[in-house]
Amino acid sequence: MGKFQETGSRRELTCCKLGALVLIVSQMLMRITSGTPVPAPILPDNCTSEEGCCMPQPYTGKPARDFEGDLALPIRIRRPVHKLNESEIARLERGYKLLRELPDLDPRSLSNQANLHCLYCDNGIYYNNMTWPLEIHNHWLFLPWHRMFLYFHERILAKLLDDDTFALPYWNWDNQSSSEEANILPRIYSTNETSYLRDLNRNKCAQPPNLVHLNSIGGCTDKTADELRIENTQVMYTQIVTGAPTPRLFFGEPYSYGDSGGYGPGTFEDNPHGTVHLWVGDPDAATAFNDMGNFGRSARDPVFYTHHSNIDRIWTIWKTLPGKQRTEPTHADFLDSRFTYYDENADQVIVNLSQIINTPLLR
Ligand code: C2O
Repeated sequence: MGKFQETGSRRELTCCKLGALVLIVSQMLMRITSGTPVPAPILPDNCTSEEGCCMPQPYTGKPARDFEGDLALPIRIRRPVHKLNESEIARLERGYKLLRELPDLDPRSLSNQANLHCLYCDNGIYYNNMTWPLEIHNHWLFLPWHRMFLYFHERILAKLLDDDTFALPYWNWDNQSSSEEANILPRIYSTNETSYLRDLNRNKCAQPPNLVHLNSIGGCTDKTADELRIENTQVMYTQIVTGAPTPRLFFGEPYSYGDSGGYGPGTFEDNPHGTVHLWVGDPDAATAFNDMGNFGRSARDPVFYTHHSNIDRIWTIWKTLPGKQRTEPTHADFLDSRFTYYDENADQVIVNLSQIINTPLLR
């Protein structure tokens, strides 16, 4: 908070409780008005991951370029995973087969995509001049960073499939209807033992036909299906509708370049986003809650991407709910933050956050 001393009002205020309160409030204000947006990290050079998540070296792609979007791409429509038809399922299977077959040196491989998520989400990126690592969870960058991560995941699959119409499906866990199989772990991701969509580290109580538990703390529950449907509906209503009428509540607290971790997640990030992660992860794994419930490994499970596809969808729906403030934050530290990813050609590409909320640009 070095900058705060420059306001000149500090000395008069520190002597009384009211002063202390004003000090705290103005420090908070300083934090949201005086930061710098996060600059694009240089992958893999800024990597200090202790979990072995660094990107393959040496980097053999083109120099990092700024993302432009491609308006010639077809608009891709994401569909609910429980409603995919045979040929859509076969295409998805083929995509993950090809992804899993990419060599370890290819930054697009499934394990390297999981590593990229690990780097950004689990303290693996240090800027040379900063004390604290970059953190992408627990604040307002959570939703946009993950949207773009999914964008490139989808484009990589499309490239491997040679099919630009490919769209990720979404796992519709918010749909509590008893006549559909929407709020169970998608069957195509879980029941076929030879599927490329499976992951072996999952909670045994998260297998179909058990319903998802949006208030889960991980592991099993003894609630009945009817109780879960009611509770899940209540979770959705409080977290997305009544509890998140403003950008700050929905997206989370501000985060600027160099901040020491996230200052608070939005309502949506913890629950249901985080609870679904925990519910799928195996509580008995060597590292508890691997894979889905652990930042370092969650994106190894293909269900991660269909889960986040639903997160993206609900973000879009949230903006259409009644209320004048259901919009993205407008502060420059939000809009001008920049992230580096690998595109479908394994080249590094830098995306400005304002592009991530421009859904027509993303097709
Ligand atoms: Cu970086 Cu769903 O997590």
